[in-house]
Amino acid sequence: MKLKILITAGDGIGPEVTKEAVAVLKDVAAAGGHDFAFDEKRIGGVAIEQDGTPLPEETLKAALASDAVLLGAVGANKFNSLPPEKRPEVGLLNIRTELGGFANLRPAFAFKELAINSPLRPEIIEGADILFVRELLGGLYFGKPREWNRVTRESWNTMRYSYDEVARVARVAFKLAQGRRKKLTSVDKANVLEVSQLWRATVDEIAVEFPDVTLEHQLVDSMAMHLMNQPRNYDVVLTENLFGDILSDESAVITGSLGMLPSATIGGKVNLYEPVHGSAPDIAGKGLANPLGAILTGALILRYSAGLEAEAATVESAVRKVLEQGFRTPDLVRANSQGFTVLSTTEMGAKVRETMKTLLVGA
Ligand code: IPM
Ligand code: MG
Repeated sequence: MKLKILITAGDGIGPEVTKEAVAVLKDVAAAGGHDFAFDEKRIGGVAIEQDGTPLPEETLKAALASDAVLLGAVGANKFNSLPPEKRPEVGLLNIRTELGGFANLRPAFAFKELAINSPLRPEIIEGADILFVRELLGGLYFGKPREWNRVTRESWNTMRYSYDEVARVARVAFKLAQGRRKKLTSVDKANVLEVSQLWRATVDEIAVEFPDVTLEHQLVDSMAMHLMNQPRNYDVVLTENLFGDILSDESAVITGSLGMLPSATIGGKVNLYEPVHGSAPDIAGKGLANPLGAILTGALILRYSAGLEAEAATVESAVRKVLEQGFRTPDLVRANSQGFTVLSTTEMGAKVRETMKTLLVGA
C-alpha cells in the first residue's frame, strides 16, 4: 500500500502531537511493508510569520498532490486581536474548503479507563460510542453576507444551506450508521430557523434511501442536555457546521479529555485529518500535550485513506492497552488520583508504539 501524507503541524502543540502520530504511522508501514511517504508544510500562525499568509500556495499545492493531510492545530495568542479574516484559523478554514471534504467525522468513544476523568458518573458514560458527522463547508462559518460594520455597529453572519449540501452529508451519515448500530440522530433548530427546516426536510427525504436506519431529529438545545444525560443513546449524530463544533467539544466530557478526540474529513479531493483539540499555547513545547488524539487521528488515516482497517484497529487497541496499564498524560490525571504513571508527550508516543509492536507481532 502506497500513501503520500502531508503533515501540516501548525501552531502550539501541533508539532509535538503530530510527531508522535507520524512515528506510529511509520511503524505501521514498516511492519506491514507499506510505502508511506511524508512531507511537511506550514499552516496557521507559523505560516503568517514566515510566509505572510496562513495558507501558503506551496502548502496548498502539496496538500492537493497528497493522498491525505494530517493537520496538528492552528491558533496562537499573539493573533487574538486580529479580525477573523487575518487569523491563523483562516488557514484551516481555507484548506478545508480547498480540499473539499464536507463530512467531518468525530468519533467520541468513552474509554472505560478514563471514566474517572469525567465529571459524569461512570454508569452514565460506560459504553458510550458516538460518531459525530459534522457538515464542514457550509452554515454560519461560510455563509454570506458576513460583516462587522464598525460605523453602524452592526454585524452579521449567515447560516445558509442548499438542499444538495445537506443531502450529501446526510448520505455519508446514513451510510456510516448502516455500518454501526443503525441509528441516526439529526440535530437542528427547526423550531426557530428556516435553514434548519430545510435541513430536517432534506434529511427526511434522504432517509427513504436507508430504510434499515432509524432516524430521529433533536433540537440542538435539548441535544446538548441529552448528550450529558444519556450519551449511550446515540450512535451517529448528524449536525450542521457550528452545532457540530459545539457538540463535539461537549462530547469531550464523555471521553474524559479533549486530548483524546480524533477527526477525519472525507468526501472531497483529499481527506483531511485533525485532532479535535486546539493549539493549547499555554502548554506548548513543555512535553505536557496528550498525543493520543493525534495518534487516534493517524488510525483514521489508516482506516479511511489507506483501507488498512486491521492496522487502524491495532493502533486503537494499543491506545486502550496503554491506558489499561495506567499510563497517562497530565490532562488525563485528576489532582487527587493515584496509581498512574504520568508520561510526557514523547514518552506516551513511545509507549503506544512499544505496545503496538507486541500487538503487530501477535497478529
Ligand atoms: C474545530 C475548531 C475549528 C472550528 C477552529 C479552530 C476554526 O474549533 O475544528 O473544532 O471551529 O472548526
Ligand atoms: Mg471546535
